[in-house]
Amino acid sequence: MQAPDSVETLISEMSLAEKIGQLNLLSAGEGLATGAAGESALEARLAEGQVGAVFGTKSLSTARAMQEAALAGSRLKIPLFFAEDVIHGHRTVFPLPLALACSWDMALIEETAAFAAAEAASEGLHQVYAPMIDVARDPRWGRVAESPGEDALLASRIAAAVTSGFQGDDFAGPGRVAACLKHFVAYGATQSGRDYDNASLAWEDLLGLYLPPFAAGIAAGAASVMVAFNAVNKLPMHAHEPLIEGWLRGRAGFEGLVVSDYTGIKELTSHGLGDAATVVARALHAGVDMDMLGEDYLRHLPGLAETGLRDPDCGLSITAAEIVALIDRACRRVLSFKARLGLLDDPFRGLTGTPAAPARKAGRALARRAAARSAVLLKNEGVLPLNPDSRIALIGPLADDRANMLGTWSISGDARDVVPLDQAVAELTGRRPKVVLGANLVAEPWLVKRLNVHGITVEPDPRSEAELLDEAVAAARAADVAIAAVGEAREQAGESASLLCADLPAPQRRLVARLAETGTPLVVVVFAGRPLALGDVARAADALIYAWHGGIAGPEGVADLIFGRTEPSGRLAVTLPAAPGEVPLSYADEPTGRPARGRFEKFRTGWLDLPDNAPRFPFGYGLGYGTVRYGPPQLSAEVAQIGERVRLTVDLSNSGRRAATETVQLYLSDPVARITRPGRLLADFRQITLAPGESRRVAFEITADMLFYPVAPSLEEVDWVLEPGLIRLHVGPNSRDTQTVELTWVA
Ligand code: NOJ
Repeated sequence: MQAPDSVETLISEMSLAEKIGQLNLLSAGEGLATGAAGESALEARLAEGQVGAVFGTKSLSTARAMQEAALAGSRLKIPLFFAEDVIHGHRTVFPLPLALACSWDMALIEETAAFAAAEAASEGLHQVYAPMIDVARDPRWGRVAESPGEDALLASRIAAAVTSGFQGDDFAGPGRVAACLKHFVAYGATQSGRDYDNASLAWEDLLGLYLPPFAAGIAAGAASVMVAFNAVNKLPMHAHEPLIEGWLRGRAGFEGLVVSDYTGIKELTSHGLGDAATVVARALHAGVDMDMLGEDYLRHLPGLAETGLRDPDCGLSITAAEIVALIDRACRRVLSFKARLGLLDDPFRGLTGTPAAPARKAGRALARRAAARSAVLLKNEGVLPLNPDSRIALIGPLADDRANMLGTWSISGDARDVVPLDQAVAELTGRRPKVVLGANLVAEPWLVKRLNVHGITVEPDPRSEAELLDEAVAAARAADVAIAAVGEAREQAGESASLLCADLPAPQRRLVARLAETGTPLVVVVFAGRPLALGDVARAADALIYAWHGGIAGPEGVADLIFGRTEPSGRLAVTLPAAPGEVPLSYADEPTGRPARGRFEKFRTGWLDLPDNAPRFPFGYGLGYGTVRYGPPQLSAEVAQIGERVRLTVDLSNSGRRAATETVQLYLSDPVARITRPGRLLADFRQITLAPGESRRVAFEITADMLFYPVAPSLEEVDWVLEPGLIRLHVGPNSRDTQTVELTWVA
């Protein structure tokens, strides 16, 4: 994209120092510090014209005041732009991104993003650090909460939907903001699920699994990208020229702005890539346009622009003239972004005459609908929906919780906006349920301290575990039905919240076991930020709902499902591990030479200590209250020319007495290929609602682009292959329970 004339004029008039100032991205100091602080005093920097953008302002008036200060300090009157982490809602907090992914409802996801954009824009924000589109397959990684789940196709559709929701047709339009795809790339593949760790993976995995959501976000017009903290195949992303300049800009055709993550450039030194000046040269050369918080560009680029850099230790040799040209390149991209935001024409664009935020009431209604659509019904032995007249005992550490319901990245949310589960139940039944704690969220005092690092959300009851359990058992015995509200604290998932063991904390597991022994029908609701291994909890429950951290209306959405005010329709966007050690995992695992056959067998792939009958909840799984049956899938042709369109149809009928929203899923497998391929891969899906007694035909087009796969000895030598031969098409309600038809492609 050619930079507009206004940008070229500015570039020709700017001094080197002014250009470097544009690359500096600082925090307003009102947000959350998530790394080592920089040395900046924002006001002094603004006065010197040394800031390009600010993130974390918390009000329109702060942003306006900062803009005035920036203009006063800038000889050429270049305005700032304002950014913020708006990940699953802004003031109105929606369910976690992973929860929203479980709705498989792109219109709904787009609607939540559009609402968040309107709220953010009303406060003078121009850019949001979302969507987070890191495919994640390791439940230990806390940031799985922010992710679109384990699948590339679902993640790609979400990347496009969220981008459209934020940006609309024009991200400079009223109520819109620029999206920032993150974290580029493979942050979800970090070793052992440890946050900030590195990723080593096959180039085919990168091309086939981690990059497609970025390609989809770019195709949807995303205006910016944030680079990831991790290294990919030995090269930290903030220095990854082949992926940033090569793939992102070269292959994917991205023409927007690339920002670092929080002190990500400085951290290249800790990665072992050289001293401060060297890593600055590397990041700039790699294509990182703005330096978030570290101020290393500001400190080291002036010197580098005079001397260049010769660092044989890192294999980098770059002349002063090349550095100057790279500064121009980055500055041009920053200014072009500002031009696209309309800020070069009007520095107060979005800051004066700003449309008011949408009505909070509309946001609440949307949040409640989204929460009900995101929760996944995993088991129901005829218990749900509950009769509102039943005597209910609501038991568990999250029964009356507000703060944890918001989930990670609810930095602009307010726990007082949450209607807790006990109140939500009371509203629907007309009377308050009996509420008892039953168990603390976690038992260990040192862990409680860590979980309360950003405000107290975990306050353990000092009574003994035995006392808490006895009280819970008594309450369950006296009730017609017990609802256990268990799960994770807000800080148990999200950034820097990797777990050794992704299971429900032990005191809560013991609570569920004791409640099951009472014989009172038991509904377990799990409010969590990650896919937890449920193990015996799933067995003990008569009904089980995976409700995630659902935002301000999370508990109300769950109550709607429990009492049948809404039909459950969520489908897992990640597989739940059957045991905490079954990680990383995915429905799309590649077969081995000794493939597992669903139970343990000596000398076959599997886990010696995993019981064969462990309850399993695969990707795509979820139940409703209707009874949907799938007829046999039919193909329009069993043999077809490669590239010819083939139609697959399947008839569905709802023989139950309630409506059902069904997500019909199509998977593909390629049994013979040049390299190992996933056992099956999601190729498409359709969502339909069937009234009781209704039947409907669902059709899928099978197209060649579903079948291409990369063979890539390196990032530069990629062969996208489409071969003749047999393809298996699997259709069904989830990734496991499918019916298969075969199609042969001929050349
Ligand atoms: C670090 C996180 O990795 C990133 O997602 C976030 O946008 C920045 N901090 C800014 O808060």
